[in-house]
Amino acid sequence: MKRKLVVGNWKMNGDRARNSALLDQFLGAMPAGVDVAVCPPFAYLSQVGEILSGSAVVLGAQDVSEFHDGAYTGDVSVTMLADWGVRLVIVGHSERRALHGESDTVVARKAAAALDGGIVPIVCIGETLAERESGVTEQVLLRQLDALAANLSPELLQRIVLAYEPVWAIGTGRAATVEQVQAVLGFVRRWLARHLSAPERIRILYGGSVKPETANGLFGLPDADGGLIGGASLDAQSFLEICRAAT
Ligand code: G3H
Repeated sequence: MKRKLVVGNWKMNGDRARNSALLDQFLGAMPAGVDVAVCPPFAYLSQVGEILSGSAVVLGAQDVSEFHDGAYTGDVSVTMLADWGVRLVIVGHSERRALHGESDTVVARKAAAALDGGIVPIVCIGETLAERESGVTEQVLLRQLDALAANLSPELLQRIVLAYEPVWAIGTGRAATVEQVQAVLGFVRRWLARHLSAPERIRILYGGSVKPETANGLFGLPDADGGLIGGASLDAQSFLEICRAAT
């Protein structure tokens, strides 16, 4: 059985003192039997990397440039992330798709850049509330997934992590129901089966208002391999409980 993966996405939160306090509390009680990563803002990768060194918690980042080093003001390349000790990177988060206009193709190129630099991309996919209510959830997911297949060889595709994050469940306190999540995860797994020889090896995470009280049910789903946690990852006790639910 695959170990589950729980990733804390701190988004644009934290400062040196809070990061240190949060990680001190968390690292002292981290459960075994689950893979855990935290993704601080770029500004704190160095600090968090130092605190995590020697621990089992993996350092992740929240974004990566699709380009390699050069004249790309404000971008951060995969080479730089690797230099900081980053091993996972979130790409295509709905906040970046919505606020920074990242298209499916750009997201796929970012995933390719990450893999090229030896970093595993966690590729986020998911529908908006309007899309769900108009009954086009599967078409939206298909468009997002097909862009990955168009830009990554099957060998590269086999190395990604996927995160299903319904946009309407992010930061709203309204997690999708286990039935809604499993329906989508099953759909994604069937898509993977059409493109890969070992679709079961891909980890598919769920993200969107995961809380300690909902984590058990979500992580118990047949196709759920862990979670991408936003708000609850900023509280050590909540994040610990969510990690325990994944053991
Ligand atoms: O990356 C994490 C997701 O956007 C979920 O955020 O747990 O605050 O809803 P949330």
